Amino acid sequence: MSSQPSHRYSSIAIVLHWVTAVLMLGNIVLIWVVDELPDERVRWAIDTHKSIGITVLGLFVLRLLWRLGTRPPALDGLSAWEQVAAKWGHIGLYVLLAALPLSGWLHDSAWKDAAAHPMSLFGLVPWPRIGIVMGLEPGLKEQLHDLFGELHEWLANGFYLLFALHVLGALKHQFLDRQKLLQRMWF
Ligand code: HEM
Repeated sequence: MSSQPSHRYSSIAIVLHWVTAVLMLGNIVLIWVVDELPDERVRWAIDTHKSIGITVLGLFVLRLLWRLGTRPPALDGLSAWEQVAAKWGHIGLYVLLAALPLSGWLHDSAWKDAAAHPMSLFGLVPWPRIGIVMGLEPGLKEQLHDLFGELHEWLANGFYLLFALHVLGALKHQFLDRQKLLQRMWF
């Protein structure tokens, strides 16, 4: 097995990968600690969570465009089943990068007090709610608020699982198989 990285990802792909990873993990930590924060910081934390989530969605769109226009380097040195697992793991992560922010945005748009608390990205740029959801009748909106909230939570659980497998897979190839896989995703 080769100890050399076969090919590197492009600089754009590397930046998008690591910025997205930091924002995703930061957003999860932020929402985990929200109950420990003093009352006056809670609103700020949830608003920042929403802003980071929308940023992740924007980066996801850029990443998808990049991915559709570029072939990533081949997964050389992996067995056939590992290549299949890596491919489906990556597809799952792409799906969650879109579905997590979208479900959060839907959940927030169905919030009964949404109109009284306009959204803005990092307090700088006004950001819309999803109009079709905001305009629904209050009883249905309340039900959808709960439903999208649960969906958001379950997608987050799916993300923890795929993220753990993604990191464990990368570490296995790096340290047990000595394939220098991480260098492919670094400058
Ligand atoms: C990077 C994308 C995102 C990730 C990884 C993420 C993750 C999470 C997690 C783990 C929770 C806690 C779920 C639970 O256990 O109850 C949560 C809650 C929540 N998220 Fe997100 N989220 C993302 C994007 C968004 C977006 C874009 C919005 C809205 C525009 C949003 C709005 C919310 C709200 C309102 C809650 C409930 C907060 C509370 O009242 O405690 N999220 N999110």
